Amino acid sequence: MGGRSQAPSRAPAGPARLLPPRPENLRLHLERVGPVPYRGRAGALIPDVAAAGLTGRGGAAFPTYRKLEIVAAGRGPTVAVANGAEGEPASREDKALLAAAPHLVLDGLQLAAEAVGATEVYLCLHRGAMPVIERALRERAQCQLDLLPVTVAETPPRFLAGQESAVVNWLGGGPAIPLFTPPRVTERGLNRRPTLVQNVETLAQLALIARFGPQWFRSLGVAAEPGTMLITRYPAPGGCQVAEVPIGTPLAAILGSAPAQAWLVGGYHGTWLPPAAGLTLDNGSLRMLGGAVGAGVLAALPADRCGVAETARVTAYLAAESAGQCGPCLNGLPRIAAALAELAGTRPRHRALADVERWAGLVSGRGACGHPDGSVRFLRSALRVFAAEFRRHERRQCSAGTGRPFLPLPNQVPVSDEDWT
Ligand SMILES: Cc1cc2nc3c(=O)[nH]c(=O)nc-3n(C[C@H](O)[C@H](O)[C@H](O)COP(=O)(O)O)c2cc1C
Ligand code: SF4
Repeated sequence: MGGRSQAPSRAPAGPARLLPPRPENLRLHLERVGPVPYRGRAGALIPDVAAAGLTGRGGAAFPTYRKLEIVAAGRGPTVAVANGAEGEPASREDKALLAAAPHLVLDGLQLAAEAVGATEVYLCLHRGAMPVIERALRERAQCQLDLLPVTVAETPPRFLAGQESAVVNWLGGGPAIPLFTPPRVTERGLNRRPTLVQNVETLAQLALIARFGPQWFRSLGVAAEPGTMLITRYPAPGGCQVAEVPIGTPLAAILGSAPAQAWLVGGYHGTWLPPAAGLTLDNGSLRMLGGAVGAGVLAALPADRCGVAETARVTAYLAAESAGQCGPCLNGLPRIAAALAELAGTRPRHRALADVERWAGLVSGRGACGHPDGSVRFLRSALRVFAAEFRRHERRQCSAGTGRPFLPLPNQVPVSDEDWT
């Protein structure tokens, strides 16, 4: 049984805090980080999480202690959900974490459940992670490690399926699409109970804070955003890797020195930025340029790829992934995607770019979830960073010379089947 009676292991010293050198079973996990430090009562862990300054790793960087407090203060029994849906197609880090350190996530889920006084616990994940988690849960059951049984649910591999109200909707037997708010799920979520939805990496970080304390957590990262974070990086020469880096690491150190025409920061709801030596992986640095760390996806677009074509492909994907419940998704995103496809093709109407710019303004700030806003953030940053290239495309030219895709999509959305002129 995990408890404070066992001597805790030494805290990890380098930036590799979450990801172990090799995938861990329960024995390796407990050897590495020690027993689960249950606090014995609801609320007791929250001051440590507040002192650590942990922010959510699922995209919005919301202070984790605040969400714990809100749910813990809710009426009646509460629910805790670990969100491993990872619907963003470019993001691999949650899958990598679940594969390598499933027990750290499960520890975090139990500790968060204890902190909010939950009586039900769920873990949502991709089909691929299911065997690892089922094995981990069997190991934990044998030594009665968990305070509450975990219900595991496989989420559909869709972009919106990981949005917190979509997760709650799915767990409640509905479709994995966002619910209209208010109320927030923290007030009335699964089975109308206050529900904590926390990203799996956030929970793994919480499990380490519970063991090694806020000061240790703050020894990496920057003051306003402490700790490490998992990233999925796509350097310009190609390939994709998941890595754990201190928050505040220079983006050039993450993406490498190979020439790139633009950096995509934060994934498909993120922002294209011109490569710049001074940029670092923290919201303080990125927000000054309209960017954010977001889902932790970082890509360097090589010089021989077309930013217009990449933007058109991703926007077509985002438009197709909408839940089609609200005006901006029903009317706005498909039109924008169609005009972008024209611009990426060989015979755009002369009004196509002006239409994209105008429609982008009509879509943002509306809709029941952040999907239209996130999609437009991505689009607008492309219009800024690839402005010259968009104008070239209006004139039916392309400087990249190839529409060969770079960014990953589940089904490669064809932009054009015609050759470049
Ligand atoms: C369109 C959309 C998709 C999202 N997908 C995910 C996801 O796949 N996984 C995730 O953890 N959070 C996702 N989120 C964020 C969640 O809504 C929620 O904020 C998060 O799970 C909360 O956990 P955190 O505070 O630990 O980050 C998404 C949000 C939006 C708007
Ligand atoms: S804004 Fe779009 S994605 Fe979000 S709930 Fe409405 S239709 Fe669905």
